[in-house]
Amino acid sequence: MAERPDVDELTIEEYPSNDGIIIMATVNRPEKLNALNLAVKEAIKSLCTWAQDSEKVRVIVFRGASPLPPPEGKRQKPHAFVAGADVSEFVGKDSVGIRPEFEDNVWEAVWKLRKPTIALIDGYALGGGSELALSCDIRISTKRSMFGTPEINLGLIPGGGGTQRLTWLVGYGKAMEMIMGGEMVDGEEAYRIGMVNHIVEPDDLLTKGMEIANNLASKSPLTIQIAKQSVRTALDNPISDGILLEHNMFVDLFDTKDKEIGVGAFMERGKPEWTGE
Ligand code: COA
Repeated sequence: MAERPDVDELTIEEYPSNDGIIIMATVNRPEKLNALNLAVKEAIKSLCTWAQDSEKVRVIVFRGASPLPPPEGKRQKPHAFVAGADVSEFVGKDSVGIRPEFEDNVWEAVWKLRKPTIALIDGYALGGGSELALSCDIRISTKRSMFGTPEINLGLIPGGGGTQRLTWLVGYGKAMEMIMGGEMVDGEEAYRIGMVNHIVEPDDLLTKGMEIANNLASKSPLTIQIAKQSVRTALDNPISDGILLEHNMFVDLFDTKDKEIGVGAFMERGKPEWTGE
């Protein structure tokens, strides 16, 4: 059984929900706009392994720590979800140095979680930060957030799946413009182009996030993972193959206890008590 990570750079809180828990993982480097350094990336990867293995975990929510009060005479740092991979770790590195980090990377670890994931975005979500959000299933943003893929300005391209997942989400034309141009879009524009599911005021972000997380946590923990897997087949397969895969998953669910529980509860106008089996 994997261990729950315990590092200062990633705060992990547990919120009870139904008979399970919702995990709130907060990237905690506000002085560096929550940029993903090696410690954070390793901690998120461990969290993913632990959360997938732990039976009680129903939903995993990611967010960035709020800025700290500034020292006297200094300006406050801006709000950030995650302002990217930590660029200071790129200095002087060649392909041999960087490859291991990108072969088994944090964005794939989040993407491959079979449990539902949510990103709560307030502030900058740039580069590897926008890719962390893109690896989640649902994105909720404040209007004041800023999204972008500025890697082009570093002589790079997105390396955490951004060219693929952004294209899926917002379409070829907008992804091309964002990735080649490196310009940011605000929360309202991100919502308009389909990059985020909801936009809210900063004070409402946690409430909205927990409302959605609690709803997901109220579903059968088994069935929701199959639902996620089935939607994902749409990305990897032509539609005729995807429909066949969905059909098989749907049929297999008829052998689960939770199908009998869910259908039975509907028939009796009761509340389903899921077993996850
Ligand atoms: N990696 C490492 N450090 C980062 C960072 C990143 N991706 N993003 C921000 N920081 C650090 C800054 O170096 C600065 O550190 P310092 O105070 O010790 O000098 C601190 O966070 C605050 O950032 P700063 O640039 O001073 O804030 P700003 O309000 O002037 O600008 C941004 C905010 C987001 C526009 C700017 O920080 C930025 O462009 N960040 C890099 C974005 C990027 O290229 N991300 C893609 C990486 S894959």
